[in-house]
Amino acid sequence: MLNNTLQESQIKKTSIEVFGLGYVGLPLAVRLAVQGWNVSGIDVNRDRISRLEKNDLFDSELNLKTEFDESRKQGFISFTTEPKKISGSKIGIICVPTPIPGPGIKSDKYVKDAVEKFLDTSKAGDVILVESSVEVGTIDDLENIVKSKGFVIGKDYGLSFCPERIDPQNKEWKLENIPRVIYCSDDVTFQICQNVYYDVNQANITRVSSVKVAEVVKSFENTYRLVNISLVNELAILCDKLGINAGEVISAAATKPFGFKPFYTGAGAGGHCIPKDPLFLLESSKKFGIEFKAIENALEVNSFVPKYIVETIEKTLSKNNLPLSVIVCGMAYKHDLEDMRDSSGFKLYDEFQKKGFQVSAYDPFYKKQLEKKYLIENKMEGKSINLLNDLSNDLIKNFSCLCIVQHHTKSKFRIHQIYQDSMVPLIYDCQNKLAINPLSKTILNSFGGK
Ligand SMILES: NC(=O)c1ccc[n+]([C@@H]2O[C@H](COP(=O)([O-])OP(=O)(O)OC[C@H]3O[C@@H](n4cnc5c(N)ncnc54)[C@H](O)[C@@H]3O)[C@@H](O)[C@H]2O)c1
Repeated sequence: MLNNTLQESQIKKTSIEVFGLGYVGLPLAVRLAVQGWNVSGIDVNRDRISRLEKNDLFDSELNLKTEFDESRKQGFISFTTEPKKISGSKIGIICVPTPIPGPGIKSDKYVKDAVEKFLDTSKAGDVILVESSVEVGTIDDLENIVKSKGFVIGKDYGLSFCPERIDPQNKEWKLENIPRVIYCSDDVTFQICQNVYYDVNQANITRVSSVKVAEVVKSFENTYRLVNISLVNELAILCDKLGINAGEVISAAATKPFGFKPFYTGAGAGGHCIPKDPLFLLESSKKFGIEFKAIENALEVNSFVPKYIVETIEKTLSKNNLPLSVIVCGMAYKHDLEDMRDSSGFKLYDEFQKKGFQVSAYDPFYKKQLEKKYLIENKMEGKSINLLNDLSNDLIKNFSCLCIVQHHTKSKFRIHQIYQDSMVPLIYDCQNKLAINPLSKTILNSFGGK
């Protein structure tokens, strides 16, 4: 059975169903479709499906536009909310969210829902390939679900896990050149996956010996980033006290050609991956009654940084007899992206409010109609955001401080103008990127800056 799928996949006769059309699933679906695979993009979010059916892309998806239009024109990609029964072989690629586990929510909820949906229309010879980042043990659980339908994994059904490593907006490392790690239930499934990934990244995939290795690799990569981001952010706090620039320390240390990789300061790691995936390793450790202190410490630092920044701004404003009013500039977790999940901008906003500031937010990517969703994703249910539509003279004139969390390309020019023309009394740059302008009367403070 799997041999038949292998033959069909060699000539791209195997159909692909991509579950979850977000930051991971949509680029993958488009990439495979433009290479001639017959792809069905499946998402439970009807609005997303109808938007894609109308060929309407979000700003951060516009980099896919040429390939998207091409694959739509060739008829290689379609969008739907439900998978279909077909006569030929098919592969279900799972790219759905894996939320932070907590009371009433398990990280594998959506992955299991999607796998069950795929199995409803599946038959012997098909393959499930998981790309979502999962907790250790999830793929074993999926194996049991597949077996419960009467399939024999490795004989008449393939199971594989190839965690996605995409870094949205990274211009150097993209889907097509990021090497990947993969677990496959058997050799034939591995060959089928090689055929698929040949059209993703030239099949630059390293097969690991067990599913647990693959599961831990993914969480460990993001743990490495969280720990290092927290490390440089604590360094920034020390540099503030020493009156030296953390950026200069990091750049100078990075001249060492071995044993050092630079990480950069900011208001804290955010998004759907870096603060979350380390929790998967923490959960695993707890099951053995052991601690993973490096992760616990890093998470603690990550939640402390916004508080430190707010206190620093409060002290500067009070010292200069300025009212406590601030614009949080950049609510997305990363520059040039509309992803607002688990974002430092929201943590700062909340902290400013708790301290009694008059606070507003500005982000050119912010969609007011999605505010409820943003607030839930940032554990701020029931609160609201006072959003500015732009950074016009009229809107900013009543604020003491512009707190820059993200330097979006769309707002960069305006920020420089505001600084150059001394349009607010204080600018606080959380990313320590603005260069000092001696002609400006605005006080420029940076996190880890001098
Ligand atoms: N965003 C990143 O940069 C990134 C990078 C590497 C890995 N990951 C991992 O990839 C996974 C997906 O992340 P994302 O950022 O693409 O999420 P996302 O929220 O952008 O997209 C997920 C999509 O899945 C849909 N969905 C939910 N349940 C579904 C179901 N049962 N069937 C079909 N669709 C369903 C949602 O409606 C949503 O459109 C997560 O595990 C994440 O940790 C994300």
